[in-house]
Amino acid sequence: MENKKDLWWKQAVIYQIYPRSFQDSNGDGIGDLKGIISRLDYLEELGINAVWLSPVCQSPQDDNGYDISDYEKIDPMFGSLQDMEILIQEAEKRKIKIILDLVLNHSSDEHKWFQEAKKSKDNPYHDYYVWRDGEEGVYPNEMESVFGGPAWEWVPELKQYYFHQFSVKQPDLNWENPKLRREIYDMILRWMDKGVGGFRLDVIDQIAKDPELKVTCNGPRLHEFIQELSRETFQKGNLITVGEAWGADVERAKLYSNPDGSEFSMVFQFEHIGLDQEEGKTKWDIAPLSLVKLKKTMAKWQTELHDCGWNSLFWNNHDLPRIVSRWGNDKKYWKESAKMLATLLHGMQGTPYIYQGEELGMTNVDFQDIGQYQDIETLNMYKQRIREGYTKEEIMESLHKKSRDNARTPMQWSHEKNAGFTTGTPWMELNKNYETVNAVSEMEDPDSIFHYYKKLIQLRKDQSIFVNGDFRLLLEEDESVFAYVRTEGTQEILVCANFTENIIDCPLLRQWEKHHPETKYLIHNYEDEGDIGKLRPYEAMILG
Ligand code: GLC
Ligand code: CA
Repeated sequence: MENKKDLWWKQAVIYQIYPRSFQDSNGDGIGDLKGIISRLDYLEELGINAVWLSPVCQSPQDDNGYDISDYEKIDPMFGSLQDMEILIQEAEKRKIKIILDLVLNHSSDEHKWFQEAKKSKDNPYHDYYVWRDGEEGVYPNEMESVFGGPAWEWVPELKQYYFHQFSVKQPDLNWENPKLRREIYDMILRWMDKGVGGFRLDVIDQIAKDPELKVTCNGPRLHEFIQELSRETFQKGNLITVGEAWGADVERAKLYSNPDGSEFSMVFQFEHIGLDQEEGKTKWDIAPLSLVKLKKTMAKWQTELHDCGWNSLFWNNHDLPRIVSRWGNDKKYWKESAKMLATLLHGMQGTPYIYQGEELGMTNVDFQDIGQYQDIETLNMYKQRIREGYTKEEIMESLHKKSRDNARTPMQWSHEKNAGFTTGTPWMELNKNYETVNAVSEMEDPDSIFHYYKKLIQLRKDQSIFVNGDFRLLLEEDESVFAYVRTEGTQEILVCANFTENIIDCPLLRQWEKHHPETKYLIHNYEDEGDIGKLRPYEAMILG
């Protein structure tokens, strides 16, 4: 049964803001809510419909806000509750909804619940977390934290270990406890009363854990918990909800994004992102890229979720390197390849996400010294790999390609000092290329990546085929060209992209023209049409 509610989020384009790196308003070097408010006109100009804010709640910032110590307060570093209310109102004036990041798998160890929980085993909050009796130095099992080291931390006063999948300052919440779940739902309802437009659910596939069985992802009660969460909260409003699920396969994704509205609006899964990782190894062990694999993976998600689920379309977020530096070419064909990647993604079915700076073609950062990095995952990995005998050069190479800090350098607004991000000392060094890659110059240049994104966003608004059309992959085994057709009723469009810096012969284009004599360029990343039947370096187009 199709949900009767207004499915506004199917038409929407979402912009992700990493608040500490977006815009500083008070010169302390850290982006904040007032800074975001001052940039709403920019976002309106781009044409996006909603902003997903990475966490701004009170937090000791061990994992940049993904360690929350009070879900109902704004961290003073970012501003106040009043600033949040103003942001929601000001955004609404521009028809932009605000989506908050809910981190419900764990809290900060400085959260009141955890402070109470570690006082004694009979404290009412003790069971809000996951504990095991034990002996100091003898871990309950060999489970490891995502950020390195054991997933267990000893609390001598209790003679117990607590479980943390992420840093020691991010103890896992125990979703088996119904009182905890109720507290979470009430907190969410209060945010809904404040007028937020939706929520992004951080690592939601990890909540139903059973450390006894060494199960963290996709635990047995996962969908039961999510359905209860959705029933008690989201379904009472007209929200967009998106579940982050690294462990989702197609079948699970259909549950997360079931059109009956029983879980979330959509799933945010990473299969296309993980393709450059050596099998069975970590994300730092980088495998060569294969366009054929990328095509098959993306095509699978396009066809399998059609009519029975809904996907997020993204290349970037705050945990991922910049796409133009990975699948594109951030030097000679910087502009062409950034536009090509955008064309390919925005032509698909799903809700597109643009991560701050992506619309400017921001690139990975060229830090030469580990001291320039800030991210806890990066710093832990560095220490661990040094201990394991890797050379500094090897480690730095992995970081250049994969460190989360590639996405976290401050937003490049202008060519002025600190790119207009702050008048103070930025919390993290900027990418040096801001003199050429920045919003001011791109807004002035009609041929810029910014204007191209704007056009793509507008296309999706104008033509329902982008939202509804079905998907057919062409040239499956071709190693250079990614091409597909979308169809809605009698309308057809062709999306075609060259992933290489070579000139590629592409007879497909000639055939298309033959069968569609009326065809027009809906968008094209080269100014002139060129030789029909040939694709220039990173050339991409949508014909329809
Ligand atoms: C998610 C976030 C990431 C964070 C982790 C733990 O993957 O996107 O930034 O470190 O969860 O909350
Ligand atoms: Ca600030």
